[in-house]
Amino acid sequence: PPLSEVLNLHDFEAIARSVMTEKAWAYYSSAADDEITLRENHAAYHRIWFRPRILRDVTQLDWSTTILGQKSSMPIYITATALGKLGHPDGELNLTKAAANHGVIQMIPTLASCSFDELVDAAQPGQSQFLQLYVNKDRNIIKRIVQHAEKRGIKGLFITVDAPQLGRREKDMRMKFEEADPDQVSKNDKSKEVDRSQGAARAISSFIDPSLCWDDLPWFKSITKMPLILKGVQCWEDALEAYDQGLAGVVLSNHGGRQLDFAPSGVEVLVEVVEKLGAKRGLTFPNEKFQLFVDGGVRRATDVLKAIALGATAVGIGRPFLYAYSSYGVDGANHALEILRDEFEMAMRLLGARNIKEVVRDMVDASSIHQH
Ligand code: FNR
Repeated sequence: PPLSEVLNLHDFEAIARSVMTEKAWAYYSSAADDEITLRENHAAYHRIWFRPRILRDVTQLDWSTTILGQKSSMPIYITATALGKLGHPDGELNLTKAAANHGVIQMIPTLASCSFDELVDAAQPGQSQFLQLYVNKDRNIIKRIVQHAEKRGIKGLFITVDAPQLGRREKDMRMKFEEADPDQVSKNDKSKEVDRSQGAARAISSFIDPSLCWDDLPWFKSITKMPLILKGVQCWEDALEAYDQGLAGVVLSNHGGRQLDFAPSGVEVLVEVVEKLGAKRGLTFPNEKFQLFVDGGVRRATDVLKAIALGATAVGIGRPFLYAYSSYGVDGANHALEILRDEFEMAMRLLGARNIKEVVRDMVDASSIHQH
Protein backbone atom coordinates (compact mmCIF):
# COMPACT_ATOMS: atom_id res chain seq x y z
CA PRO A 1 0.00 0.00 0.00
CA PRO A 2 1.10 3.63 -0.49
CA LEU A 3 2.65 5.22 2.62
CA SER A 4 -0.34 7.54 2.96
CA GLU A 5 -2.38 4.47 3.91
CA VAL A 6 0.02 3.48 6.69
CA LEU A 7 -1.70 4.96 9.72
CA ASN A 8 0.26 3.63 12.68
CA LEU A 9 3.40 1.70 13.59
CA HIS A 10 1.54 -1.62 13.79
CA ASP A 11 0.70 -1.31 10.07
CA PHE A 12 4.39 -1.46 9.18
CA GLU A 13 4.72 -4.87 10.83
CA ALA A 14 1.98 -6.45 8.73
CA ILE A 15 3.38 -4.90 5.53
CA ALA A 16 6.95 -5.93 6.33
CA ARG A 17 5.89 -9.48 6.90
CA SER A 18 4.52 -9.68 3.37
CA VAL A 19 7.43 -7.94 1.61
CA MET A 20 10.54 -8.97 3.55
CA THR A 21 12.56 -12.11 2.86
CA GLU A 22 11.71 -14.97 5.18
CA LYS A 23 15.18 -14.78 6.66
CA ALA A 24 14.92 -11.08 7.50
CA TRP A 25 11.43 -11.51 8.91
CA ALA A 26 12.62 -14.41 11.08
CA TYR A 27 15.59 -12.46 12.47
CA TYR A 28 13.77 -9.16 13.09
CA SER A 29 10.49 -10.49 14.45
CA SER A 30 11.73 -13.40 16.51
CA ALA A 31 12.03 -13.48 20.28
CA ALA A 32 13.12 -16.01 22.89
CA ASP A 33 11.49 -19.38 23.52
CA ASP A 34 7.69 -19.06 23.63
CA GLU A 35 7.81 -15.30 23.04
CA ILE A 36 5.83 -14.56 26.20
CA THR A 37 8.03 -11.59 27.11
CA LEU A 38 7.70 -10.28 23.56
CA ARG A 39 3.92 -10.24 23.93
CA GLU A 40 4.08 -8.86 27.46
CA ASN A 41 6.27 -5.92 26.38
CA HIS A 42 3.36 -4.40 24.54
CA ALA A 43 0.62 -5.81 26.79
CA ALA A 44 2.10 -4.12 29.87
CA TYR A 45 1.19 -0.71 28.43
CA HIS A 46 -2.45 -1.81 28.30
CA ARG A 47 -2.47 -1.97 32.10
CA ILE A 48 -1.59 1.70 32.45
CA TRP A 49 -4.39 4.22 32.07
CA PHE A 50 -4.36 7.99 31.76
CA ARG A 51 -5.79 10.58 34.13
CA PRO A 52 -6.19 13.42 31.62
CA ARG A 53 -6.50 17.08 32.67
CA ILE A 54 -8.97 19.46 31.03
CA LEU A 55 -9.42 23.17 30.44
CA ARG A 56 -5.81 24.04 29.99
CA ASP A 57 -4.84 26.18 27.05
CA VAL A 58 -3.41 23.51 24.76
CA THR A 59 -3.04 25.66 21.65
CA GLN A 60 0.75 25.59 21.69
CA LEU A 61 2.50 22.31 22.30
CA ASP A 62 6.14 21.25 22.53
CA TRP A 63 7.12 17.60 22.81
CA SER A 64 10.86 18.14 22.39
CA THR A 65 13.22 17.13 25.18
CA THR A 66 16.84 16.59 26.17
CA ILE A 67 18.42 13.13 26.32
CA LEU A 68 21.87 12.84 27.97
CA GLY A 69 22.30 16.55 27.31
CA GLN A 70 21.36 16.24 23.63
CA LYS A 71 18.32 17.85 22.03
CA SER A 72 15.67 15.54 20.65
CA SER A 73 12.49 16.60 18.86
CA MET A 74 10.57 13.85 20.66
CA PRO A 75 11.09 11.84 23.86
CA ILE A 76 12.11 8.78 21.84
CA TYR A 77 15.28 7.45 20.26
CA ILE A 78 15.90 4.80 17.60
CA THR A 79 17.42 1.92 19.53
CA ALA A 80 20.16 -0.40 18.30
CA THR A 81 19.17 -3.37 16.16
CA ALA A 82 21.80 -5.54 14.48
CA LEU A 83 22.08 -6.63 10.84
CA GLY A 84 20.22 -3.73 9.23
CA LYS A 85 20.93 -4.85 5.68
CA LEU A 86 18.93 -8.06 6.06
CA GLY A 87 15.83 -5.94 5.49
CA HIS A 88 17.06 -3.33 3.00
CA PRO A 89 20.28 -2.77 1.03
CA ASP A 90 20.95 0.60 2.71
CA GLY A 91 20.56 -0.90 6.20
CA GLU A 92 21.05 1.45 9.16
CA LEU A 93 21.79 4.36 6.83
CA ASN A 94 18.02 4.68 6.36
CA LEU A 95 17.73 5.39 10.07
CA THR A 96 20.63 7.86 10.14
CA LYS A 97 18.90 9.90 7.44
CA ALA A 98 15.44 9.76 8.98
CA ALA A 99 16.88 10.65 12.39
CA ALA A 100 18.51 13.71 10.81
CA ASN A 101 15.26 14.77 9.13
CA HIS A 102 13.34 14.57 12.36
CA GLY A 103 15.91 15.65 14.93
CA VAL A 104 15.93 12.39 16.86
CA ILE A 105 18.86 10.31 18.06
CA GLN A 106 19.97 7.01 16.55
CA MET A 107 21.79 4.42 18.64
CA ILE A 108 24.32 2.73 16.36
CA PRO A 109 24.63 -1.03 17.01
CA THR A 110 28.01 -2.76 17.43
CA LEU A 111 26.78 -5.32 14.91
CA ALA A 112 25.47 -2.85 12.34
CA SER A 113 25.57 -3.96 8.70
CA CYS A 114 26.97 -0.56 7.71
CA SER A 115 30.33 0.37 9.17
CA PHE A 116 30.38 2.63 12.21
CA ASP A 117 32.26 5.35 10.34
CA GLU A 118 29.83 5.23 7.42
CA LEU A 119 26.96 5.93 9.81
CA VAL A 120 28.82 8.73 11.59
CA ASP A 121 29.94 10.25 8.28
CA ALA A 122 26.32 10.24 7.09
CA ALA A 123 25.14 12.31 10.06
CA GLN A 124 24.29 15.97 9.50
CA PRO A 125 26.18 18.69 11.40
CA GLY A 126 24.73 18.84 14.91
CA GLN A 127 23.06 15.42 14.66
CA SER A 128 23.65 13.38 17.83
CA GLN A 129 24.29 9.65 17.79
CA PHE A 130 24.75 7.06 20.54
CA LEU A 131 26.65 3.78 20.35
CA GLN A 132 25.50 0.39 21.62
CA LEU A 133 28.42 -1.76 22.75
CA TYR A 134 28.72 -5.51 22.91
CA VAL A 135 31.79 -6.25 24.98
CA ASN A 136 34.33 -8.57 23.40
CA LYS A 137 36.86 -10.65 25.32
CA ASP A 138 39.65 -8.64 23.75
CA ARG A 139 39.55 -5.46 25.80
CA ASN A 140 42.15 -3.82 23.59
CA ILE A 141 39.65 -3.97 20.73
CA ILE A 142 36.96 -2.58 23.00
CA LYS A 143 39.19 0.25 24.14
CA ARG A 144 39.89 1.13 20.52
CA ILE A 145 36.18 1.03 19.60
CA VAL A 146 35.20 3.18 22.58
CA GLN A 147 37.91 5.78 22.13
CA HIS A 148 37.30 5.96 18.40
CA ALA A 149 33.59 6.50 19.09
CA GLU A 150 34.36 9.31 21.51
CA LYS A 151 36.68 10.96 19.01
CA ARG A 152 33.95 10.75 16.38
CA GLY A 153 31.54 12.60 18.63
CA ILE A 154 29.31 9.84 19.97
CA LYS A 155 27.25 11.27 22.84
CA GLY A 156 26.47 8.17 24.91
CA LEU A 157 27.79 4.64 25.27
CA PHE A 158 25.13 1.99 25.91
CA ILE A 159 26.73 -1.21 27.16
CA THR A 160 24.43 -4.16 26.55
CA VAL A 161 24.26 -6.25 29.72
CA ASP A 162 21.37 -8.61 29.07
CA ALA A 163 23.15 -10.81 26.53
CA PRO A 164 26.07 -12.82 27.99
CA GLN A 165 24.75 -15.40 25.52
CA LEU A 166 22.21 -14.68 22.83
CA GLY A 167 18.72 -15.94 23.58
CA ARG A 168 17.13 -18.89 21.86
CA ARG A 169 15.07 -17.52 18.99
CA GLU A 170 13.58 -20.52 17.35
CA LYS A 171 11.97 -18.78 14.40
CA ASP A 172 15.42 -17.48 13.50
CA MET A 173 17.14 -20.80 14.22
CA ARG A 174 14.90 -22.56 11.72
CA MET A 175 16.24 -20.26 9.01
CA LYS A 176 19.69 -21.57 8.36
CA PHE A 177 22.10 -18.70 8.02
CA GLU A 178 23.75 -20.14 4.91
CA GLU A 179 24.21 -16.80 3.28
CA ALA A 180 26.92 -15.77 5.69
CA ASP A 181 30.20 -15.10 3.96
CA PRO A 182 31.90 -18.51 3.96
CA ASP A 183 35.32 -16.87 4.20
CA GLN A 184 34.49 -15.51 7.65
CA VAL A 185 34.16 -18.95 9.14
CA SER A 186 37.20 -21.16 9.07
CA LYS A 187 36.41 -24.66 7.93
CA ASN A 188 37.95 -26.38 10.92
CA ASP A 189 36.30 -24.25 13.60
CA LYS A 190 33.48 -26.61 14.56
CA SER A 191 31.85 -24.28 17.08
CA LYS A 192 31.32 -21.62 14.46
CA GLU A 193 29.94 -24.14 11.99
CA VAL A 194 27.30 -25.06 14.53
CA ASP A 195 26.48 -21.38 14.95
CA ARG A 196 26.05 -21.01 11.22
CA SER A 197 23.37 -23.63 10.99
CA GLN A 198 21.26 -21.97 13.68
CA GLY A 199 20.09 -18.66 12.40
CA ALA A 200 21.44 -15.15 12.14
CA ALA A 201 21.55 -14.47 15.87
CA ARG A 202 23.73 -17.46 16.67
CA ALA A 203 26.02 -16.76 13.75
CA ILE A 204 27.01 -13.41 15.25
CA SER A 205 26.95 -14.21 18.95
CA SER A 206 30.38 -15.70 19.51
CA PHE A 207 31.63 -12.11 19.73
CA ILE A 208 30.21 -11.50 23.23
CA ASP A 209 32.17 -11.96 26.48
CA PRO A 210 30.08 -13.69 29.19
CA SER A 211 32.62 -12.83 31.90
CA LEU A 212 31.67 -9.13 31.85
CA CYS A 213 30.78 -8.00 35.39
CA TRP A 214 30.34 -5.01 37.72
CA ASP A 215 34.08 -4.91 38.46
CA ASP A 216 34.73 -4.06 34.81
CA LEU A 217 32.79 -0.80 34.94
CA PRO A 218 35.50 1.37 36.55
CA TRP A 219 37.74 0.41 33.62
CA PHE A 220 35.12 1.68 31.16
CA LYS A 221 34.89 4.92 33.11
CA SER A 222 38.68 5.24 32.96
CA ILE A 223 38.87 4.97 29.17
CA THR A 224 36.11 7.41 28.17
CA LYS A 225 34.33 10.59 29.17
CA MET A 226 31.18 9.62 27.28
CA PRO A 227 28.12 9.06 29.48
CA LEU A 228 27.93 5.32 30.29
CA ILE A 229 24.54 3.63 30.33
CA LEU A 230 23.72 -0.03 30.99
CA LYS A 231 21.24 -1.40 28.46
CA GLY A 232 19.19 -4.32 29.68
CA VAL A 233 18.65 -3.73 33.42
CA GLN A 234 15.70 -5.83 34.64
CA CYS A 235 15.26 -5.12 38.36
CA TRP A 236 15.70 -2.24 40.83
CA GLU A 237 18.69 -3.82 42.59
CA ASP A 238 20.81 -3.56 39.45
CA ALA A 239 19.57 -0.04 38.71
CA LEU A 240 20.65 0.95 42.23
CA GLU A 241 24.08 -0.60 41.70
CA ALA A 242 24.46 1.32 38.44
CA TYR A 243 23.55 4.54 40.22
CA ASP A 244 25.96 3.84 43.07
CA GLN A 245 28.74 3.21 40.55
CA GLY A 246 28.18 6.66 39.10
CA LEU A 247 26.81 5.69 35.71
CA ALA A 248 24.73 8.14 33.68
CA GLY A 249 21.69 5.91 33.48
CA VAL A 250 20.13 2.58 32.64
CA VAL A 251 17.85 1.21 29.94
CA LEU A 252 15.14 -0.93 31.51
CA SER A 253 14.84 -3.48 28.75
CA ASN A 254 14.63 -7.17 28.00
CA HIS A 255 16.13 -6.80 24.52
CA GLY A 256 12.75 -6.83 22.80
CA GLY A 257 11.90 -10.19 24.38
CA ARG A 258 14.85 -11.81 22.63
CA GLN A 259 16.85 -12.89 25.70
CA LEU A 260 15.30 -14.45 28.81
CA ASP A 261 11.67 -15.37 28.23
CA PHE A 262 9.53 -14.29 31.21
CA ALA A 263 11.79 -11.34 31.93
CA PRO A 264 9.44 -8.49 32.90
CA SER A 265 8.60 -5.60 30.61
CA GLY A 266 10.74 -2.47 30.91
CA VAL A 267 7.81 -0.29 31.89
CA GLU A 268 6.90 -2.61 34.76
CA VAL A 269 10.48 -2.50 36.01
CA LEU A 270 10.39 1.29 35.68
CA VAL A 271 7.70 1.47 38.37
CA GLU A 272 9.80 -0.44 40.91
CA VAL A 273 13.03 1.38 40.03
CA VAL A 274 11.45 4.80 40.56
CA GLU A 275 9.94 3.69 43.85
CA LYS A 276 13.06 2.01 45.29
CA LEU A 277 15.63 4.57 44.16
CA GLY A 278 13.35 7.19 45.60
CA ALA A 279 13.11 5.39 48.93
CA LYS A 280 16.78 4.39 49.17
CA ARG A 281 18.60 7.34 47.59
CA GLY A 282 16.02 10.12 47.68
CA LEU A 283 15.97 10.39 43.89
CA THR A 284 13.08 11.78 41.88
CA PHE A 285 12.50 11.03 38.21
CA PRO A 286 12.97 12.08 35.49
CA ASN A 287 16.45 12.84 36.81
CA GLU A 288 19.17 14.61 34.83
CA LYS A 289 22.07 12.96 36.63
CA PHE A 290 20.75 9.41 36.45
CA GLN A 291 18.47 8.93 33.48
CA LEU A 292 16.02 6.08 33.11
CA PHE A 293 15.20 4.75 29.67
CA VAL A 294 12.75 2.05 28.68
CA ASP A 295 12.33 0.01 25.53
CA GLY A 296 10.28 -2.91 24.27
CA GLY A 297 6.82 -3.00 22.74
CA VAL A 298 6.43 0.76 22.32
CA ARG A 299 4.16 1.36 19.33
CA ARG A 300 2.23 4.56 20.10
CA ALA A 301 3.02 8.02 21.44
CA THR A 302 0.59 7.16 24.23
CA ASP A 303 2.93 4.29 25.25
CA VAL A 304 5.82 6.76 25.32
CA LEU A 305 3.87 9.30 27.38
CA LYS A 306 2.99 6.64 29.94
CA ALA A 307 6.68 5.85 30.45
CA ILE A 308 7.53 9.57 30.64
CA ALA A 309 4.81 10.12 33.25
CA LEU A 310 6.26 7.26 35.28
CA GLY A 311 9.73 8.86 35.30
CA ALA A 312 11.55 7.83 32.12
CA THR A 313 13.64 10.43 30.29
CA ALA A 314 13.01 8.83 26.91
CA VAL A 315 11.91 5.59 25.29
CA GLY A 316 13.65 3.42 22.71
CA ILE A 317 11.84 2.01 19.68
CA GLY A 318 13.30 -0.87 17.67
CA ARG A 319 11.35 -3.14 15.35
CA PRO A 320 8.87 -0.57 13.97
CA PHE A 321 11.75 1.31 12.32
CA LEU A 322 13.18 -1.92 10.90
CA TYR A 323 9.80 -2.82 9.44
CA ALA A 324 9.30 0.71 8.09
CA TYR A 325 12.56 0.95 6.17
CA SER A 326 12.53 -2.70 5.07
CA SER A 327 9.21 -1.97 3.36
CA TYR A 328 9.71 1.60 2.09
CA GLY A 329 13.37 2.54 2.56
CA VAL A 330 14.13 5.93 4.09
CA ASP A 331 10.62 7.19 3.25
CA GLY A 332 9.21 4.51 5.52
CA ALA A 333 11.49 5.48 8.39
CA ASN A 334 10.53 9.14 7.89
CA HIS A 335 6.86 8.24 7.82
CA ALA A 336 7.18 6.27 11.07
CA LEU A 337 8.59 9.38 12.75
CA GLU A 338 5.85 11.55 11.23
CA ILE A 339 3.21 9.19 12.63
CA LEU A 340 4.77 9.45 16.08
CA ARG A 341 5.01 13.24 15.83
CA ASP A 342 1.30 13.49 14.94
CA GLU A 343 0.42 11.10 17.73
CA PHE A 344 2.37 13.21 20.26
CA GLU A 345 0.45 16.29 19.22
CA MET A 346 -2.93 14.63 19.60
CA ALA A 347 -2.15 12.72 22.78
CA MET A 348 -0.58 15.65 24.63
CA ARG A 349 -3.44 17.97 23.74
CA LEU A 350 -6.01 15.48 24.97
CA LEU A 351 -3.94 14.72 28.05
CA GLY A 352 -3.64 18.40 28.94
CA ALA A 353 0.16 18.50 28.86
CA ARG A 354 1.75 21.37 26.91
CA ASN A 355 5.29 20.13 27.16
CA ILE A 356 7.15 17.06 28.36
CA LYS A 357 7.70 18.52 31.85
CA GLU A 358 3.93 18.68 32.25
CA VAL A 359 3.62 14.93 31.65
CA VAL A 360 3.66 14.09 35.35
CA ARG A 361 3.11 11.05 37.56
CA ASP A 362 -0.47 12.02 38.39
CA MET A 363 -1.42 11.71 34.73
CA VAL A 364 -1.27 7.93 34.84
CA ASP A 365 -2.82 5.20 36.92
CA ALA A 366 -0.32 2.33 37.03
CA SER A 367 -1.91 0.53 39.97
CA SER A 368 -2.60 -2.55 37.85
CA ILE A 369 0.84 -2.75 36.29
CA HIS A 370 1.91 -5.84 38.28
CA GLN A 371 -1.32 -7.76 37.57
CA HIS A 372 -0.46 -10.04 34.68
C1 FNR B 1 17.69 -5.97 18.83
N1 FNR B 1 18.18 -5.46 20.04
C2 FNR B 1 19.54 -5.30 20.20
N2 FNR B 1 20.02 -4.76 21.34
C3 FNR B 1 21.35 -4.60 21.51
O1 FNR B 1 21.76 -4.11 22.56
N3 FNR B 1 22.23 -4.97 20.54
C4 FNR B 1 21.81 -5.51 19.36
O2 FNR B 1 22.62 -5.83 18.50
C5 FNR B 1 20.42 -5.70 19.18
N4 FNR B 1 19.95 -6.25 18.02
C6 FNR B 1 18.60 -6.37 17.82
C7 FNR B 1 18.15 -6.86 16.62
C8 FNR B 1 16.78 -6.94 16.37
C9 FNR B 1 16.31 -7.44 15.05
C10 FNR B 1 15.86 -6.53 17.37
C11 FNR B 1 14.38 -6.59 17.12
C12 FNR B 1 16.33 -6.06 18.57
C13 FNR B 1 17.25 -5.02 21.09
C14 FNR B 1 16.79 -3.59 20.86
O3 FNR B 1 17.83 -2.67 21.10
C15 FNR B 1 15.62 -3.21 21.79
O4 FNR B 1 15.93 -3.57 23.12
C16 FNR B 1 14.31 -3.85 21.36
O5 FNR B 1 14.26 -3.99 19.98
C17 FNR B 1 13.15 -3.02 21.82
O6 FNR B 1 11.96 -3.65 21.54
P1 FNR B 1 11.03 -3.32 20.26
O7 FNR B 1 10.90 -1.81 20.12
O8 FNR B 1 11.70 -3.93 19.09
O9 FNR B 1 9.74 -3.96 20.63
